[in-house]
Amino acid sequence: MLSETKAADAEEAARCYLARLELEDLASLEPLEERVHLTFWGVDNYRKFLEDLPGYFGAKAVVLPDGGERHLVGFYLARAVDGDLEVLKLGVLPDLQRKGIGTRLMDACRAEGVRRGCSRCFLEVRKSNQRALQFYRAHGFGIAGTRVNYYTNPVEDAWVMEKKL
Ligand SMILES: CC(C)(COP(=O)(O)OP(=O)(O)OC[C@H]1O[C@@H](n2cnc3c(N)ncnc32)[C@H](O)[C@@H]1OP(=O)(O)O)[C@@H](O)C(=O)NCCC(=O)NCCS
Repeated sequence: MLSETKAADAEEAARCYLARLELEDLASLEPLEERVHLTFWGVDNYRKFLEDLPGYFGAKAVVLPDGGERHLVGFYLARAVDGDLEVLKLGVLPDLQRKGIGTRLMDACRAEGVRRGCSRCFLEVRKSNQRALQFYRAHGFGIAGTRVNYYTNPVEDAWVMEKKL
Protein backbone atom coordinates (compact mmCIF):
# COMPACT_ATOMS: atom_id res chain seq x y z
CA MET A 1 0.00 0.00 0.00
CA LEU A 2 2.83 2.34 0.97
CA SER A 3 4.65 1.71 -2.31
CA GLU A 4 1.39 2.35 -4.22
CA THR A 5 1.10 5.73 -2.48
CA LYS A 6 4.74 6.50 -3.26
CA ALA A 7 4.23 5.56 -6.90
CA ALA A 8 1.15 7.82 -7.09
CA ASP A 9 3.11 10.70 -5.50
CA ALA A 10 5.99 10.21 -7.91
CA GLU A 11 3.59 10.16 -10.85
CA GLU A 12 1.99 13.39 -9.66
CA ALA A 13 5.40 15.06 -9.24
CA ALA A 14 6.38 13.92 -12.74
CA ARG A 15 3.30 15.62 -14.17
CA CYS A 16 4.35 19.00 -12.73
CA TYR A 17 5.75 21.51 -15.13
CA LEU A 18 7.26 24.97 -14.82
CA ALA A 19 5.52 28.07 -16.06
CA ARG A 20 5.52 31.76 -15.28
CA LEU A 21 3.86 32.85 -12.06
CA GLU A 22 0.78 34.73 -13.27
CA LEU A 23 -1.67 37.08 -11.59
CA GLU A 24 -4.33 34.39 -11.89
CA ASP A 25 -2.23 32.24 -9.51
CA LEU A 26 -2.42 34.69 -6.63
CA ALA A 27 -5.62 33.13 -5.25
CA SER A 28 -3.78 29.81 -4.82
CA LEU A 29 -0.50 31.43 -3.79
CA GLU A 30 -1.85 32.84 -0.52
CA PRO A 31 -2.94 29.42 0.89
CA LEU A 32 0.23 27.79 -0.43
CA GLU A 33 2.40 30.34 1.39
CA GLU A 34 0.38 29.82 4.57
CA ARG A 35 0.94 26.07 4.39
CA VAL A 36 4.73 26.45 4.09
CA HIS A 37 4.96 29.26 6.67
CA LEU A 38 5.89 31.99 4.24
CA THR A 39 4.30 35.44 4.43
CA PHE A 40 1.99 36.40 1.59
CA TRP A 41 2.93 39.96 0.62
CA GLY A 42 -0.51 40.93 -0.69
CA VAL A 43 -2.11 41.00 -4.12
CA ASP A 44 -1.06 44.60 -4.84
CA ASN A 45 2.61 43.87 -4.17
CA TYR A 46 2.60 40.70 -6.29
CA ARG A 47 0.84 42.62 -9.05
CA LYS A 48 3.73 45.12 -8.94
CA PHE A 49 6.37 42.36 -8.96
CA LEU A 50 4.78 40.46 -11.82
CA GLU A 51 3.55 43.31 -14.00
CA ASP A 52 5.35 46.57 -13.26
CA LEU A 53 8.89 45.75 -12.11
CA PRO A 54 11.03 44.02 -14.72
CA GLY A 55 13.68 43.34 -12.05
CA TYR A 56 11.36 40.82 -10.44
CA PHE A 57 10.49 37.52 -11.97
CA GLY A 58 8.67 34.39 -10.95
CA ALA A 59 8.03 30.83 -11.99
CA LYS A 60 5.78 28.12 -10.73
CA ALA A 61 5.37 24.38 -10.82
CA VAL A 62 1.90 23.29 -11.82
CA VAL A 63 0.05 20.00 -11.53
CA LEU A 64 -2.47 19.16 -14.20
CA PRO A 65 -5.35 17.52 -12.34
CA ASP A 66 -7.98 15.45 -14.14
CA GLY A 67 -10.07 18.47 -15.07
CA GLY A 68 -7.09 19.99 -16.88
CA GLU A 69 -6.92 23.07 -14.61
CA ARG A 70 -3.61 24.54 -13.44
CA HIS A 71 -2.96 23.87 -9.80
CA LEU A 72 -0.09 25.71 -8.11
CA VAL A 73 2.12 23.37 -6.06
CA GLY A 74 5.31 25.41 -5.73
CA PHE A 75 6.87 28.73 -6.65
CA TYR A 76 9.85 30.99 -6.35
CA LEU A 77 10.15 34.76 -6.39
CA ALA A 78 13.55 36.30 -7.03
CA ARG A 79 15.10 39.49 -8.21
CA ALA A 80 18.27 40.37 -10.10
CA VAL A 81 20.00 43.57 -8.99
CA ASP A 82 23.49 44.72 -10.03
CA GLY A 83 24.76 41.24 -10.86
CA ASP A 84 23.28 39.64 -7.73
CA LEU A 85 20.41 37.21 -7.82
CA GLU A 86 18.37 37.31 -4.61
CA VAL A 87 15.98 34.46 -3.92
CA LEU A 88 13.12 36.15 -2.08
CA LYS A 89 10.83 33.14 -1.69
CA LEU A 90 10.77 29.46 -2.49
CA GLY A 91 8.12 26.99 -1.40
CA VAL A 92 6.62 23.62 -2.31
CA LEU A 93 3.36 22.19 -0.92
CA PRO A 94 4.19 19.81 1.96
CA ASP A 95 2.60 16.74 0.27
CA LEU A 96 4.88 17.17 -2.72
CA GLN A 97 8.12 18.04 -0.96
CA ARG A 98 11.22 15.88 -1.34
CA LYS A 99 10.28 14.87 -4.89
CA GLY A 100 12.62 17.19 -6.75
CA ILE A 101 10.17 20.07 -7.34
CA GLY A 102 12.19 22.53 -5.22
CA THR A 103 15.25 21.57 -7.24
CA ARG A 104 13.42 22.21 -10.51
CA LEU A 105 12.41 25.66 -9.22
CA MET A 106 15.93 26.42 -7.97
CA ASP A 107 17.47 25.33 -11.29
CA ALA A 108 15.01 27.53 -13.20
CA CYS A 109 15.75 30.44 -10.87
CA ARG A 110 19.50 30.01 -11.35
CA ALA A 111 19.13 29.81 -15.14
CA GLU A 112 17.09 33.02 -15.15
CA GLY A 113 19.73 34.73 -12.99
CA VAL A 114 22.52 33.68 -15.36
CA ARG A 115 20.44 34.88 -18.31
CA ARG A 116 20.20 38.25 -16.53
CA GLY A 117 23.98 38.44 -16.09
CA CYS A 118 24.14 37.58 -12.38
CA SER A 119 27.36 36.07 -11.05
CA ARG A 120 26.26 35.51 -7.43
CA CYS A 121 23.10 34.23 -5.77
CA PHE A 122 22.14 34.95 -2.18
CA LEU A 123 19.22 34.53 0.16
CA GLU A 124 18.17 34.70 3.80
CA VAL A 125 16.83 31.76 5.78
CA ARG A 126 15.59 31.38 9.37
CA LYS A 127 18.28 29.81 11.50
CA SER A 128 15.77 27.22 12.75
CA ASN A 129 14.68 26.17 9.23
CA GLN A 130 16.78 23.01 9.02
CA ARG A 131 14.89 21.65 6.02
CA ALA A 132 15.62 24.74 3.91
CA LEU A 133 19.21 24.89 5.18
CA GLN A 134 19.75 21.29 4.04
CA PHE A 135 18.12 22.06 0.73
CA TYR A 136 20.30 25.13 0.08
CA ARG A 137 23.45 23.30 1.18
CA ALA A 138 22.55 20.51 -1.27
CA HIS A 139 22.41 23.25 -3.91
CA GLY A 140 25.90 24.50 -3.13
CA PHE A 141 25.07 27.47 -0.90
CA GLY A 142 27.34 28.32 2.02
CA ILE A 143 26.87 30.58 5.03
CA ALA A 144 27.96 34.16 4.29
CA GLY A 145 26.76 35.96 7.42
CA THR A 146 23.99 36.63 9.90
CA ARG A 147 21.20 39.20 10.05
CA VAL A 148 20.15 39.78 13.64
CA ASN A 149 16.38 39.81 14.35
CA TYR A 150 15.72 39.69 10.60
CA TYR A 151 12.40 37.86 10.96
CA THR A 152 9.25 38.65 12.92
CA ASN A 153 6.48 36.29 14.11
CA PRO A 154 8.53 34.89 15.75
CA VAL A 155 11.54 37.16 15.94
CA GLU A 156 14.58 35.23 14.76
CA ASP A 157 18.01 35.75 13.19
CA ALA A 158 18.64 34.83 9.57
CA TRP A 159 21.57 33.10 7.97
CA VAL A 160 22.66 34.83 4.79
CA MET A 161 23.61 32.12 2.31
CA GLU A 162 25.36 32.57 -1.01
CA LYS A 163 26.87 30.79 -3.94
CA LYS A 164 28.59 31.70 -7.18
CA LEU A 165 26.53 31.20 -10.31
C1 LIG B 1 12.96 24.05 0.97
C2 LIG B 1 11.94 23.41 0.01
C3 LIG B 1 11.52 24.45 -1.04
C4 LIG B 1 12.60 22.22 -0.70
O1 LIG B 1 11.70 21.73 -1.71
P1 LIG B 1 11.66 20.18 -2.12
O2 LIG B 1 10.78 20.05 -3.32
O3 LIG B 1 11.28 19.35 -0.94
O4 LIG B 1 13.19 19.91 -2.47
P2 LIG B 1 13.84 18.70 -3.33
O5 LIG B 1 12.93 17.52 -3.31
O6 LIG B 1 14.23 19.23 -4.65
O7 LIG B 1 15.15 18.38 -2.45
C5 LIG B 1 16.46 18.48 -2.98
C6 LIG B 1 17.48 18.12 -1.92
O8 LIG B 1 17.44 19.07 -0.84
C7 LIG B 1 17.70 18.39 0.41
N1 LIG B 1 16.49 18.40 1.22
C8 LIG B 1 15.25 18.86 0.87
N2 LIG B 1 14.38 18.71 1.91
C9 LIG B 1 15.08 18.17 2.93
C10 LIG B 1 14.75 17.76 4.26
N3 LIG B 1 13.49 17.90 4.73
N4 LIG B 1 15.71 17.24 5.04
C11 LIG B 1 16.98 17.09 4.58
N5 LIG B 1 17.36 17.44 3.31
C12 LIG B 1 16.43 17.97 2.51
C13 LIG B 1 18.04 16.94 0.04
O9 LIG B 1 19.42 16.88 -0.21
C14 LIG B 1 17.24 16.78 -1.25
O10 LIG B 1 17.73 15.74 -2.10
P3 LIG B 1 17.24 14.20 -1.84
O11 LIG B 1 15.74 14.22 -1.68
O12 LIG B 1 17.69 13.49 -3.09
O13 LIG B 1 17.95 13.76 -0.59
C15 LIG B 1 10.69 22.88 0.79
O14 LIG B 1 11.13 22.08 1.86
C16 LIG B 1 9.77 23.96 1.32
O15 LIG B 1 8.89 24.46 0.61
N6 LIG B 1 9.92 24.33 2.60
C17 LIG B 1 9.03 25.30 3.25
C18 LIG B 1 9.28 26.71 2.74
C19 LIG B 1 10.70 27.15 3.02
O16 LIG B 1 11.25 26.90 4.08
N7 LIG B 1 11.28 27.85 2.02
C20 LIG B 1 12.61 28.38 2.14
C21 LIG B 1 12.55 29.68 2.86
S1 LIG B 1 14.10 30.53 2.77
